[in-house]
Amino acid sequence: MSDDSNRLDSMDVIPTGAALGAEITGPDLSRPLPAETVAALRAAVLEHGVVFFRGQSLDDAAQLAFTRYFGPASVHIRDNQPDRPTDEIMMVSNVRENGKPIGSLGHGEIRFHSDLSYMPHPGTFSILYAVEIPAAGGATSWCNNSAAYDGLDDAMKVRLDGLRATHLHFRPEQNPDPSVDHPIVCTHPETGHKTLFVSPYFTKSVVGMAEDEGQTLLDTLFAHQTRDAYIWAHHWRVGDLVMWDNRATMHRREPFPDSQRRILKRTQIFSETRPVA
Ligand code: OGA
Ligand code: MN
Repeated sequence: MSDDSNRLDSMDVIPTGAALGAEITGPDLSRPLPAETVAALRAAVLEHGVVFFRGQSLDDAAQLAFTRYFGPASVHIRDNQPDRPTDEIMMVSNVRENGKPIGSLGHGEIRFHSDLSYMPHPGTFSILYAVEIPAAGGATSWCNNSAAYDGLDDAMKVRLDGLRATHLHFRPEQNPDPSVDHPIVCTHPETGHKTLFVSPYFTKSVVGMAEDEGQTLLDTLFAHQTRDAYIWAHHWRVGDLVMWDNRATMHRREPFPDSQRRILKRTQIFSETRPVA
């Protein structure tokens, strides 16, 4: 008997109404996805930048199987996660067990960034699945970097043409040697949209520009990108799965009290190509 679950006609894409983001209802992500449903999900995340599903119940194998519909799930090396469930799953958590953190990224603010942009082949899609969520704080916001590019004035678009910027992780051991630079304006390889590919957390300088001048330019771009008009915030519930496209968006997590537990499981896919202007 064929498995009729997760057919395309049982799926709805409901845009948030903000600059990006859509809720997807219908699929049970613990079950296999037909090819036409996978294609529609890929189209939805490309169109909306970030999509979320509520009420999922996933073990590690199911999260990895879901991730692999969109590309090879990659190992993301972290040095403080000896007990993580599998190499491809990164625990994002402030919880400590026996005095040791079970995951990364703590409880503080994580400033706006695109995952792995300090790598030559940055992240394409990232996926977070919510296991435990604090009662207060810890919302994650995404910024539509394509809309932010479109919203620049023509003089700025001309000025950015041909410029590149250096990306660095704040932990030196995570950076490749030599460090990486990418075009400030990239063309999305799947949608063809132009997008700003700089972020306050990881973008440090403009190649070939005096430090002050480069920082002033980057600060101007960061202030523009992070206007409310380009942003949507997700307020987590246990069982949420959120998937986003790092090539067209950046994200930020607000802090939460360290006295509360927050556990998410992250999977990610690296780009097979370098970003191009
Ligand atoms: C990440 C990340 C945000 C969050 O895992 O890449 O930025 O809400 N996490 O924990
Ligand atoms: Mn991130």
